[in-house]
Amino acid sequence: MNNRFDNGPKLETATAALTWNVADHQSGKGQYFSDRYAALAQDVERASDAGVWQYFRTHRAKVGRNIEVEDEGGRCFTGVNGASQDYLGLSNDPRVVEASIDAIRKYGAHSAGSAPMGGKTDLARAVEARISDILGIPHVCLFPTGWAAGYGIIKGLVRPHDHIVIDALGHNCLQHGAHAATGNVHQFIHNDMRSLEKRLDRIRRSEPEAAILVVTEALFSMDSDCPDFFELIELKNKYGAMVLLDIAHDFGCLGPKGRGLLTDHCSYSDIDYVIGSFSKTFASIGGFFASNDLASLRGVQGFSGSYTFSNYPIPAQLGAVDAALAIVFSDEGEDLRASVIANTRRLRDALGAGNVETLGVASAMTIIVAGSEARARLAYRRTLEQGVVVNCIEFPAVRRGEARFRVQLTPHHSKNEIAMIAKAIMTGLQDASRVATRGVASIAGAS
Ligand SMILES: Cc1ncc(COP(=O)(O)O)c(C=O)c1O
Repeated sequence: MNNRFDNGPKLETATAALTWNVADHQSGKGQYFSDRYAALAQDVERASDAGVWQYFRTHRAKVGRNIEVEDEGGRCFTGVNGASQDYLGLSNDPRVVEASIDAIRKYGAHSAGSAPMGGKTDLARAVEARISDILGIPHVCLFPTGWAAGYGIIKGLVRPHDHIVIDALGHNCLQHGAHAATGNVHQFIHNDMRSLEKRLDRIRRSEPEAAILVVTEALFSMDSDCPDFFELIELKNKYGAMVLLDIAHDFGCLGPKGRGLLTDHCSYSDIDYVIGSFSKTFASIGGFFASNDLASLRGVQGFSGSYTFSNYPIPAQLGAVDAALAIVFSDEGEDLRASVIANTRRLRDALGAGNVETLGVASAMTIIVAGSEARARLAYRRTLEQGVVVNCIEFPAVRRGEARFRVQLTPHHSKNEIAMIAKAIMTGLQDASRVATRGVASIAGAS
């Protein structure tokens, strides 16, 4: 084990590495990009030297409950993994791995074409059919990634004279797709249905015939919270809008039989469109679009650049997805879901007992707000030193000053490992506060 920081400057002298943020380098000034981002590169190097650069870790072995990673500064860590997007722990399941290998053997390594140009296989059709069946939505198509799906679907369906009303905290792919599609993008306050209604009402009064697409998520990954689905559907109907719901984080993991949170009380036929990702629960990558009407699917196929002008998902991806779908929506899947939620509750309880607040509802991710970027980075480094790897997230994934930890457990984590993760986070946050008050000169905002 080599979870040590003996090849960088002392943490207490690393103030400069703690106080900058990538947002400081957003201005876009400078004729040459190499000059424009020179200061950013310098800040990254400084943070990396000080052991407080939390991104771009590389794995040196299989990704499981225990991992071996190397940071960008070349330091190696072994420890408990609370940082992988593998919600039901299927990424090393032999059935999923074998199915992926079998798919390569049967169809080759490559998809060798976009969807309209021969990239699809009968395996792809089987995956589409499974998803359609599980969701109860008749028309499904697949994308290379969830990001490509979110961006491409919105850009493909919406025209510049249409309106998009989108949750202010909607995922990056949804926001980018919206802004690429139209200048008429209206953000509503996160999960606030009154704020959504205000925007819908204003648009309808001025443009009674306008097409309005409401875009939101079923489970937000930085807050682990969800909208009021009843109200969402009521507003959609009242104002003659359409709803596109991103179910990347709850599909397969939450709701009755894992079909997603909306299906707790409503049905996917109550809304218009769903998009999802295979990168959280289905041990692979890829995205999908599901539409209650065929015409909209044809619209997406016709006008989404990331569908039409990008190669189709490869057989290895889809072999894994097909096998994962079979497991996730079986009795075994029910047990896996119950275990991951029990593990999350255990972690939330342990953190709560130490007065560390967790956000939202119990899901496969546990969100802990650290506050300032400085405090989060310090605490992150302390968690590594204790043999625990969790994700430390800051702007642009969340707002400045709202940095947080996102812990991702699987059904397979043991009680001991969960206790270790909880302790490492609590100690990390306490130590970070102590370092700050001892006066690492002016660590902005560290409390
Ligand atoms: C809500 C949401 N949609 C889409 C995506 C993109 O998914 P993918 O990883 O498949 O590109 C993510 C990924 O983090 C997400 O959180």
